[in-house]
Amino acid sequence: MTTRRSLLLGCGSYLPEQILTNAELSERIDTSDEWIVQRTGIRQRHVAGDGEFTSDLGLAAARDALKSAKLDAGDVDMIIVATTTPDNTFPATGTKIQAGLGVNHGAAFDIQAVCAGFVYALAVADNFIKSGQVDTALVIGAETFTRLLDWKDRSTCVLFGDGAGAVVLQGHDGNGSSTDYGVLSTHLHSDGRERDILYVDGGPSSTKTTGHVKMVGKEVYRHAISKLGNVIEEALGANGLGSEDVDWLVPHQANRRIIDGMANRMNLPAEKVVCCIDHHANTSAASVPLALTEAVRDGRIKRGDLVLMEAIGGGLAWGACLVRMGYPNGT
Ligand code: ACO
Repeated sequence: MTTRRSLLLGCGSYLPEQILTNAELSERIDTSDEWIVQRTGIRQRHVAGDGEFTSDLGLAAARDALKSAKLDAGDVDMIIVATTTPDNTFPATGTKIQAGLGVNHGAAFDIQAVCAGFVYALAVADNFIKSGQVDTALVIGAETFTRLLDWKDRSTCVLFGDGAGAVVLQGHDGNGSSTDYGVLSTHLHSDGRERDILYVDGGPSSTKTTGHVKMVGKEVYRHAISKLGNVIEEALGANGLGSEDVDWLVPHQANRRIIDGMANRMNLPAEKVVCCIDHHANTSAASVPLALTEAVRDGRIKRGDLVLMEAIGGGLAWGACLVRMGYPNGT
C-alpha cells in the first residue's frame, strides 16, 4: 500500500564559537570538573556571544542543512523552529529565520516543548507532509538556553549550553512497511501534572520577566528513565521492530546517565549510541539534531540506517521517532 513518507534529506548544525569549560565554571561557583563529569558527563558547553540570538544560530543550522540536502531555501514550504529561548516573545523566531533565508511563501512558526521540542516539531512537520499539505519542511531546534540560567545556582547552570541543529524533510511515496525510508512513526506525550519539577519561574503573563530555570533533578531523572523507556518501546512496537533493528540511538543529550540507562534498557552496545554531551552539554531542543548531524558528518550514520530519536523535557513533554536515513536511490 502506498504511504506518504517524510524523507530526511539532510541535516546541519551550528555551535557558537565561545566555549565555557567546567574548570572555568568552577572558578565562578562552588563546583568541580569531577562533580559535573561524574554526575552528567558534561565537560564543556558553547555559549552564544553578545548580540548573537537564537535566530542567528537557527539560521546558520538551517543553511547547513539545506546545503547537505542539496536544496535551495526557495524549495521549503514550511519552517518549524523548536525553541524555549525565542529572540522575542513574539513574533515567532521561525519568521525571522524565514526572512533570513529569503523565503516569503509557506508558513513559519515556533513550537514550545522545551527539550522535547525537536521531536515535537519533527512530528508536526511529518504530519503536514503525510497529509499532502506540505512537500518540503525545514525543522530546526535552536536555543540560547544559557540566557535562562541563574549562574549562581550550581544545580542547574552547569547542565546547559547553546546551539542549533536542523533537518530537511521531503514527501515521498513509500510502501508502508518498516523498510521504507524516511520517518516511520512519531510518538508524543505530555503530563502537565509534573510541570513543577522543571520550569522557568517567569514569563510574559505571570511575572513579565523571562525568569530562570528551576529543577528538581532527582525527580526529572526518575521520570526520564521510565517515560523514555516506555516511548522507545512504543515506537519500536508500532513498527513491529525490536531493539536489534535499530542502527543508532540518537537521544536527547541531557545527562550521560540517562543516555546509558536507555541504551541498557534497549540492550544496545555503546557503539550504537550517539553521545556528544561531553562537548555540547544540554542544548534543549537543539540537542537531538546537533547529535544527529555530528554522527552523519563523521560517517557513523549512513544512508539506510534506522535511527531512533528520543527526548524529554519540561511539561513534562516527551516523545520518540524512528527514521530511516536518506532516500531510496541515493548514494
Ligand atoms: N557542583 C557540586 N555540587 C553540586 C552541584 C554542582 N554543580 N550541584 C549540586 N551539588 C550538590 C548538592 O548541593 C548536593 O549537596 P548536599 O548533598 O551537600 O546537599 C549534592 O551535590 C547532591 O545533589 P543532588 O541534586 O542530589 O545531585 P544528584 O546526584 O541528583 O545529581 C543531577 C544532580 C545531575 C541534576 C541529577 O539529579 C540528574 O541527572 N537529574 C536529571 C535531570 C537532568 O538531566 N536535567 C537536565 C535538564 S532536563 C532535561 O533535559 C530532561
